[in-house]
Amino acid sequence: MAGVVSKVLEKLHLSSAESGAPPSEPNADDLKELREKYEKAGQDHVFAFYDELDVAGKAALFDQLKGFDPDRINVLADKALYPPKQEESKAPSIEPLPAEASASILESDAEQIEKWYKAGLDLVAENKVAVVLMAGGQGTRLGSSDPKGCFDIGLPSKKSLFQLQGERIAKIQELAQKHKGTDSTPAVPWYVMTSGPTRKPTQKFFEDNNYFGLPQENVIIFEQGVLPCISNEGKILMETKSKVAVAPDGNGGIYQALIMSEARGDMRKRGIEHIHAYCVDNCLVKVADPVFIGFAAAKNVDIATKVVRKRAANEPVGLIVQKDNKPDVVEYSEIDKEMAEAKDSSDRLKYRAANIVNHYYSFRFFESIEEWYNKLPHHVARKKIPFMDTEKGETVKPEKPNGIKLEQFVFDVFPLIGMDKFACLEVDRAEEFSPLKNARGTGEDDPDTSKKDIMQQGARWLKNAGATVISEGDETGVEVSPLISYGGEGLGYLDNREIKAPAVIESKAAQ
Ligand code: UTP
Repeated sequence: MAGVVSKVLEKLHLSSAESGAPPSEPNADDLKELREKYEKAGQDHVFAFYDELDVAGKAALFDQLKGFDPDRINVLADKALYPPKQEESKAPSIEPLPAEASASILESDAEQIEKWYKAGLDLVAENKVAVVLMAGGQGTRLGSSDPKGCFDIGLPSKKSLFQLQGERIAKIQELAQKHKGTDSTPAVPWYVMTSGPTRKPTQKFFEDNNYFGLPQENVIIFEQGVLPCISNEGKILMETKSKVAVAPDGNGGIYQALIMSEARGDMRKRGIEHIHAYCVDNCLVKVADPVFIGFAAAKNVDIATKVVRKRAANEPVGLIVQKDNKPDVVEYSEIDKEMAEAKDSSDRLKYRAANIVNHYYSFRFFESIEEWYNKLPHHVARKKIPFMDTEKGETVKPEKPNGIKLEQFVFDVFPLIGMDKFACLEVDRAEEFSPLKNARGTGEDDPDTSKKDIMQQGARWLKNAGATVISEGDETGVEVSPLISYGGEGLGYLDNREIKAPAVIESKAAQ
């Protein structure tokens, strides 16, 4: 089975069109075989216009269809559209994570945090840490035509999310070098996962911005797979007469993509042992956070996750829990009111570990991907998907959801490991989590909230460093460049200074 999927994905990653070879008419025998395969699977409508296409169209459609296994697609669609009913007696047991698997930055003493921080910096300095960015999403809610990472959230510097993250990597390399006193700067390779829709514009943005000052060989852009979009009746949807409508296979596609793209091979070559994986949309993300790396390495786990404290019982967030004795995520809709409101002996919400999709992996765990990646379930996202009506030969733009996209979730891997190989670190939401999901003006998780959270963080850091931030009018914050400070450190030179907001702290000399 794994072999079949591998072949499918190989195809997804390099079609003949992409390889630069001029298109040629597909061989008649190969075509016949492929048609029969789709016919048997009841999906032969995908060939409805084949005979009227030009050579390039025929070659492109043939290539694309050869890349999919229609039987497997039927199985996935069937499971997604008609999920087996859970029996009453099989209701899972859900508990908060055990104390030994959890820690909190908000409650640990400074000495402990410093220990993790230094241990993490040691590992960075030894070139053992890499980061994987999940940036394959289409960002439909944000509504920008560019990949989300290119988005300018309105900071005074106009930096994009990609730039903020790239500069944090540069800074952590510098901090690790200083910490160890080594001559050369360590490398934290940055593996950027893109998808069909985001690959080219992401690549171009990195090139145009000179990889944000990072050595090009340490920025590895790779591509996740796609899956066909399916109608509510289980049929593969066509985008045009010569193209299947496809969508990225979810952020859980990261695991297949890591092995298919050779990103994992590159990690192995470099001797990477610890990986930080995160989502592109969190403007506050502490990329390659030494505290997190040091924490997970000290616990010797295979997966760790950061969480923030749930704000209120009714906040609609997924929660990290222990489900049937395994680490897992439960969605807000899966728990009842009583459970959502339950308190622990300290009068805090018993279930408060809100999932922010910010993970640590050991490299040894990545070595086992082949053993489990095809066990991850596919989830259904019901969407309005424009499609070619294969009976009428017309493009239809539906008004209501007419089909599904099949997505894997990156955290569905949690229950595959034992509780003893999993750990969870609670972090401060104001310092570490502010996702960009929605279009400007929404008022929640939008560009304005992202900007505000960065500006307020900067003002907090400055005040902690002894500066006074004064503001006239509504603009109250300060943008601190990641190249000046990664997490509030190194700002002592601003002690007793008065900073007029809104301001940007971009270089030490300029202040
Ligand atoms: P979301 O689920 O929020 O999706 O992704 P999105 O694409 O950003 O936005 P919408 O839902 O279309 O509005 C969470 C993270 O997972 C990544 C995204 O890039 C983001 O970092 N992701 C999502 C992938 O890398 N691949 C996917 O197929 C889907």
